[in-house]
Amino acid sequence: MEIDVGQYASKKEMYDHINASLTQMLRGNGDSVAGLANASALLKLFLEDINWVGFYLVKNGLLTLGPFQGKPAVMQIRPGEGVCGTAVEEGKTRRVDDVHTCTNHIACDLASSSEIVVPLIKNGETLGVLDIDSPVPARFDEEDERGLESLAATLTSLVFN
Ligand code: SME
Repeated sequence: MEIDVGQYASKKEMYDHINASLTQMLRGNGDSVAGLANASALLKLFLEDINWVGFYLVKNGLLTLGPFQGKPAVMQIRPGEGVCGTAVEEGKTRRVDDVHTCTNHIACDLASSSEIVVPLIKNGETLGVLDIDSPVPARFDEEDERGLESLAATLTSLVFN
């Protein structure tokens, strides 16, 4: 599958392009593992300065490692635990500029400096999270948050039926 990463005048323009590619890729594909695997590959391709991108999915009340790109990671996270579990408990995006000063952070890759976790919520139910780590401090800003939340909305509507 050939994907043009291209050049963008703004982050919004880049996220709009990712969203269009994601929508095209996922439409008509009912398999959630295949969809999330390609979504993590797509994000790894487009986003600069990231060392881990992937999904944790709620299974039997625990966040369980799903498709991802990066180093092997912790396989289960309890609600309230780590940045991922906190995002699930609060039902909102968590941005951490410096994971080393965050007491509630689970280190999976020592190279990680900053992190963003976006919950995947459908009809009020949290189905999982999109988690992205960066070796650059404060890598994620409000524009990333908005862009990734729009991708999360696409994922919840097209991957989880
Ligand atoms: N740092 C996460 C754990 C998952 S890894 O980053 C892949 C956390 O604190 O929840």
